[in-house]
Amino acid sequence: MTDAELIGIAREARENAYAPYSDFKVGVALLAADGRVFTGVNVENASIGLSVCAERNAIAKAVSEGVRDFTKLAVATGSPEPTMPCGVCRQVIWEFGHDIEILVAGSGDEIVSTTIADLFPQPFTTFE
Ligand code: THU
Repeated sequence: MTDAELIGIAREARENAYAPYSDFKVGVALLAADGRVFTGVNVENASIGLSVCAERNAIAKAVSEGVRDFTKLAVATGSPEPTMPCGVCRQVIWEFGHDIEILVAGSGDEIVSTTIADLFPQPFTTFE
């Protein structure tokens, strides 16, 4: 699975985002260590605070299928510049791996590659 392929899956998933309130659609492709890919999209709600980000929905799908070991997470938005995962999602990604690579794509060709450790340097944890 190349980075370009994973971003392509995130972009395709993004079409299913349910974002009528923000009009900001997000798609995620989460690559597991076993090679499986789990997609996620943001799912908003009329009660705005109930909206859930694409990253957390992808993780919830994977964990629900018994998968917890992840290597990469690709995020795709329609923003002209890549936009980083929000703080809440950083905490949730960190829960499932400290070496997870994060690839972020906007609508253009620029891809930002980073890691969850770089994005979330001072995590809350109760068991380290
Ligand atoms: N959103 C995500 O899905 N992921 C992020 O990392 C940041 C924000 C969603 C939440 C909301 O549905 C919309 O983008 C605008 O904030």
